Amino acid sequence: MAMVESSVQALGDRFARFIAEARDVWARGLRGPEAAEAVRECMLRLLAEAPEDEPWVAGILRDRPPGRELYRDPEFGFVQMGHLHAPGHQTAPHDHGPCWVVYGVYRGEIEIPTYRREGAGDDREAGNSSRRRQGSSKGPG
Ligand SMILES: [Fe+2]
Repeated sequence: MAMVESSVQALGDRFARFIAEARDVWARGLRGPEAAEAVRECMLRLLAEAPEDEPWVAGILRDRPPGRELYRDPEFGFVQMGHLHAPGHQTAPHDHGPCWVVYGVYRGEIEIPTYRREGAGDDREAGNSSRRRQGSSKGPG
């Protein structure tokens, strides 16, 4: 665990605190929407308090990765990603399967539409199903 702690610490004090808090959510046995809400609160604090020179933020701003795995927990299996989306960025509708996700916005604003799957079948096969836009949420600006 010491190696994990040092690699997390290298990404910054606030990031390390966030990971410790997220690990605590899992360690307390929270799951599903209850866990997502608890992690959301931790993430809001991280995003509000992490300065641009904290290593995880500075790296994303410098490298502009479309997706970067910042942390993967060896015990609970959760993953923290970081992305830099240019204005106009769009992602194809996708399904997170049985997993939940918490999106946070460090700078700017995003719109996240949600879709309801219609029809049966594997939607990787054209014509077997369709998706319909159901709603959206916006991140902070
Ligand atoms: Fe997603």
